Amino acid sequence: MNKSIDSKKLKELYIEFFKQKNHAVIPNAPLIPEEDPTVLFTTAGMHPLVRYILGQPHPRGKKLTNVQKCLRTDDIDEVGDNSHLTFFEMLGNWSLGDYWKEDAIKWSWEFLTDKKWLGIDKRKLYISVFAGDKDAPRDEESARIWQSLGVPKERIFYFPKKDNWWGPAGATGPCGSDTEMFYDAGKKPHGKDCKPGDSCGKYFEIWNDVFMQYNKTAEGKYEMLKQKNVDTGMGVERTVAALQNKKSVYEIETFQPIVQKIKEIAKIKSPDEKQEKSIRIIADHIRASTFVLSEEITPSNVDRGYILRRLIRRAVRHGKLIGIEREFLSDLVKLVIDIYKKDYPQLEKNKEFILTELKNEEAKFRNTLERGLKKFEEIARQVKRIDGKNAFLLFQSFGFPIEMTKELGKEMNTEIDEEGFQKEFEKHQQISRVGAEKKFKGGLSDASEQSTKLHTATHLLNEAIRKVLKRRDVVQKGSNITPERLRFDFNLDRKLTEDEVRKIEELVNEQIKKGLLVVREEMTFKEAKGRGAQAMFEQKYEEKVSVYSIGDFSIEVCGGPHVRNTKEVGKFKIVKEEGIAAGIRRIKAIIE
Ligand code: SER
Repeated sequence: MNKSIDSKKLKELYIEFFKQKNHAVIPNAPLIPEEDPTVLFTTAGMHPLVRYILGQPHPRGKKLTNVQKCLRTDDIDEVGDNSHLTFFEMLGNWSLGDYWKEDAIKWSWEFLTDKKWLGIDKRKLYISVFAGDKDAPRDEESARIWQSLGVPKERIFYFPKKDNWWGPAGATGPCGSDTEMFYDAGKKPHGKDCKPGDSCGKYFEIWNDVFMQYNKTAEGKYEMLKQKNVDTGMGVERTVAALQNKKSVYEIETFQPIVQKIKEIAKIKSPDEKQEKSIRIIADHIRASTFVLSEEITPSNVDRGYILRRLIRRAVRHGKLIGIEREFLSDLVKLVIDIYKKDYPQLEKNKEFILTELKNEEAKFRNTLERGLKKFEEIARQVKRIDGKNAFLLFQSFGFPIEMTKELGKEMNTEIDEEGFQKEFEKHQQISRVGAEKKFKGGLSDASEQSTKLHTATHLLNEAIRKVLKRRDVVQKGSNITPERLRFDFNLDRKLTEDEVRKIEELVNEQIKKGLLVVREEMTFKEAKGRGAQAMFEQKYEEKVSVYSIGDFSIEVCGGPHVRNTKEVGKFKIVKEEGIAAGIRRIKAIIE
């Protein structure tokens, strides 16, 4: 095994390997998914590719490879163990209706074990495959392929959906069974039951080959996709840790300078277990925050801003836990920028923004943290369970994200009424229950009611712009929907006048009031074009597409979902119109 492989080298080798297997290299997409409204952040390399997984031809072909930065908050409670991170880099190779299990698995094995590539000792690798259930069969095919490559039966494990199924990230979308590759870190197992995928820490999952052939519908059905896709993901940090024989991802070269700096600031030489965990949490969260900030997200109480706020505030609190009493996050951010600026130039470009926002957020929270902690203790002394009102007080007056209150609760053996908190939150924010639950679910939204309404509003807006401007050449250039707002990009080489904005808004609201029916039909792309349907992307003329029309007002090629009647949408309001690039404007709108 090649112990000298660091992150840079691993990325180079991977890309080179798949180039040799005729894959086209595609760019690292932003953390803010432009293509997939079902997630707040890019949690995997598949999000920027969803439309191609669904069958639209990709301009670079059917075999692709890249490095993708990802942010996942669903594992946030695990951060601090040896392998879980919120932000990480993932290597991926894709087949969009091209190769299938045989090639995907063969290539994974070759890259992992061949001396020319990673040269990992075959005896150190363990495999898991899907055990099968009512939705999809047991994956004997993958198991057979692994065996044909020399993996003994005893090292292949069958697990259910919980372990060996990937996606959809939101409630609906592409998904499929997967086969995962684990590296045996050599630790003695805790008990004989320690298996790949367990938290016993012996096995690191380093690579996942997903066989995406299903689409999960809103009704929970698994339909076959038009094509069979392969989506693989190899975690850079974990694989490097395995290659370098490190116990944890925090010991590799991209983390070490950050970890050392934290120790220096906290004046800790040899941390105990608790301190070690705090150090790791800070290192992880500061890296994630830096990358989120580099995409010009600011800390706030909604959506991505809220996740960012949580990350920063949790880092500050863990700093306090290990005795750091001064502002310290900017020192760490500078290190993160230096480590990654070559691969991610926006870090350097937005350095001032990142530092300013971070300083403000840290200072703001430091102001209330001490008093908030006192308040928490005071309440916790009096009651066994902190009710919704008090959890909300900690949030509102002391800036404690509910997750932090829960974490404190765990540390101090106090229960928190989270549901009560959400009720209080809704009362104050007047947002829907669904909206509040989404927000606290860890960064995932899905085809919720609110997003669906905004989606229909987007179609109305798209058409209203053309009608008000009396120009058919003005078309959609991008769109992004969260449960809170819609964003719509279109081509126009000037600013919209106030009068035009008002007229567009009115025209949309008129259609909503009319109670127009929203109807979905399937037809060939040619027919859709013939009927004047808007389509963001060209497709083959004979290909069947789904088309939504709203009364006689709008018709678009679109996958849905939509409301049935425009009355359901509510009042539409444009909150911003701005230029985002030469000749491209952006509208942000909400429904009230
Ligand atoms: N989507 C899969 C994962 O994230 C493989 O890329 O693990």
